Amino acid sequence: MNSGAGGGSGGGCAGAAARSRGGSPGGDGFAPSALGTREHWDAVYERELQTFQEYGDTGEIWFGEESMNRLIRWMQKREIPLDASVLDIGTGNGVFLVELAKFGFSNITGIDYSPSAIQLSGSIIEKEGLSNIKLKVEDFLHLSTELSGFHICVDKGTFDAISLNPDSAIEKRKQYVKSLSRVLNGKGFFLITSCNWTKEELLNEFSEGS
Ligand SMILES: C[S@@+](CC[C@H](N)C(=O)[O-])C[C@H]1O[C@@H](n2cnc3c(N)ncnc32)[C@H](O)[C@@H]1O
Repeated sequence: MNSGAGGGSGGGCAGAAARSRGGSPGGDGFAPSALGTREHWDAVYERELQTFQEYGDTGEIWFGEESMNRLIRWMQKREIPLDASVLDIGTGNGVFLVELAKFGFSNITGIDYSPSAIQLSGSIIEKEGLSNIKLKVEDFLHLSTELSGFHICVDKGTFDAISLNPDSAIEKRKQYVKSLSRVLNGKGFFLITSCNWTKEELLNEFSEGS
């Protein structure tokens, strides 16, 4: 597995204030937070869906526009073919999927465990007049369908959120690495944008899935 890591700048960050270098009770340096729970994200996207329906506002772009441009520039530089299969893990409002499709990527899938997030993504994609984007309600830690063989897996803020889960976050991080090994092609690339982890920590965390 190849990993790329990026820090966040601009836009929101799922837990910028939640890292406590002094150590949490679990000893992993993360203070548990509601940001790590499905209830939190369900509430966020129910609200964002309603706002989109009322005002057409697509909502938060995590890490800002530049984070999406940076990922696409990286894919361009590596000459990733436009028909490469791309999975956006925890796609939220799906705005990154929209950017990928506008750039010309034709085999894109977004998953999120929040049904409202997937509904919002679908509405935004429809409004943009885009087709051929696959969307699924999926918990990445308990994958229910046969998602596999992706050339590119992208995570923008999802591993950060999972790392803050108040209930067995360390186990959940391990499960994330297992799920990633399952969905990513052996020669594929994993692109992760995080504001809670350093590049070295991420490389270490994901090395077991190599
Ligand atoms: C910080 S938001 C980022 C959303 C999106 N990637 C973006 O850049 O706008 C984290 C996302 O991860 C999703 N998420 C968290 N845990 C998940 C899991 N176990 N499976 C699928 N999605 C998850 C949340 O519902 C939320 O959409």
